[in-house]
Amino acid sequence: MCLKRLSFKKIDSTSAFTKRRRFVLRNFTFVSAKYQTAGRGRTGRTWESKKGENLLFSFLVKDSKCKDVFAYLSMCSAFAVKSVLEKFGVRDLSIKWPNDVYVGGKKICGILLDGCLLGGKDDDVIIGVGINVNQSEFSGEFLQQPTSVYLQTGKKQSIKRIKKEAYSTLEKEVKKVLNGDLSFVEEIKKIDFLKGKSVYAEVCGEKKLVTVKGINDDCSLKAIVEGKEVNLFFGEISFHAEDK
Ligand code: BTN
Repeated sequence: MCLKRLSFKKIDSTSAFTKRRRFVLRNFTFVSAKYQTAGRGRTGRTWESKKGENLLFSFLVKDSKCKDVFAYLSMCSAFAVKSVLEKFGVRDLSIKWPNDVYVGGKKICGILLDGCLLGGKDDDVIIGVGINVNQSEFSGEFLQQPTSVYLQTGKKQSIKRIKKEAYSTLEKEVKKVLNGDLSFVEEIKKIDFLKGKSVYAEVCGEKKLVTVKGINDDCSLKAIVEGKEVNLFFGEISFHAEDK
């Protein structure tokens, strides 16, 4: 298969599809869908999205450096989405570590990274991105209250235009990371949603109160847990619904 842009009307999950086909798909392939029947979120949750209303895609990165730069890829993806949303008039954007994009206290985009990371030439990372674009009603239980570009700006947007911008921005930011340019980290630190907040989180399997000091240069999270300063890495912590 040679195409680097695949789009489906309906699929189980763009990330699951990309994972199944990762050996035949080329580096930097994008897979999008109007509707997912089994959209996946982080920590085993599902990702629901109304048919045709949002941007759902996955991006395949095949590179032997994936293992070393995994945390940077995670955060640079959120940074790329934040830059795109700004261009479409969304204001007050921040990034909630490790890669949620927020507006005020609400989530506008979720990102899920799937890695096959053995430290070899066949390594890859699949960056799955769900941006709420035109959806105005969200039903169900959410860890964080969702919002969309439409709810924030009052304007419906062309998903095709946002997709074009998102693809080029994400590819550019990922290539920078693979080439050793990590300058985006300083930008992320300025829009760190959790900085200074005390939140409940699951740290290595136990629920704890965590006071966040901020994002470190290596994209880990500096926090105070039980009176001790620690650096938390991707996968070591997951957040509870606010205040619970
Ligand atoms: C999260 O839990 O915040 C991550 C959500 C990621 C959702 C996107 S939608 C496109 C891609 N395909 C999936 O099944 N999940 C990701």
